[in-house]
Amino acid sequence: MLNNIFDAHAHYDDKWFDEDRDSLLSAMPERGVAYIVNAAVDIETARTALRYAEQYPYVYACAGIHPENLDGLAGNYLEQLTELLKHPKAVALGEIGLDYHWDIPREEQHRVFEEQLRLSKELDVPVVIHDREAHGDTMELLRKYRPKGLMHCFSGSTEMLKEVMKLGLYISLGGTVTFKNARVPVEVAAAVPLDRLLLETDAPYLSPVPNRGKRNDSTNIAYTAARIAEIRGMDAQELIDVTTENAKSLYGIK
Ligand code: NI
Repeated sequence: MLNNIFDAHAHYDDKWFDEDRDSLLSAMPERGVAYIVNAAVDIETARTALRYAEQYPYVYACAGIHPENLDGLAGNYLEQLTELLKHPKAVALGEIGLDYHWDIPREEQHRVFEEQLRLSKELDVPVVIHDREAHGDTMELLRKYRPKGLMHCFSGSTEMLKEVMKLGLYISLGGTVTFKNARVPVEVAAAVPLDRLLLETDAPYLSPVPNRGKRNDSTNIAYTAARIAEIRGMDAQELIDVTTENAKSLYGIK
């Protein structure tokens, strides 16, 4: 069994986990998962993530406003995030970014993304970036603000990867690299410098093969790691150990 797994991005607050969340999370260490960062998409999920982080020693939390959650955003949301990020187990501002897949007013998305990028610099915390079908504008803003952080569920090309590496950012890869028709994710998995790669689930979505379509959880990283290790011609446990060190370094976990 593979061990020392670090799931760099998961959503255990999702209602899909309501019936067995505690038993599932409690069993993680004996199933090889050593660390989990629970992402947030708004103030409420950030509070929930922090609650899990207080409950389970191996769970850490993010706080941030996702571009899909701009409706009814409180005027003082930056102060709220600042408070939440003071928690010793809050490790990043995320997930934040741009989403052009859905019809969300772009001006508003840019404003909130930029405000949070500035906050990350002020507070000196890493960001977790969500970029869906918005590569050009996302890169432009990342070049402008130069935050430290992670492009989660990286979906760009190897060309974009080069630009992301120049900015000193990390990327994380998840289940899509195992999908049958994956071409670009496989190229990216082969090309990314090993010291900039993290592994993630984005649970409960994007389960790797052979569990594609089912609910995802952090134990499935074993399949993703095995596939990436195969692509790179290396040992899966070694890949996990390196990516775990990368994640600890990014998130400031000792
Ligand atoms: Ni996510």
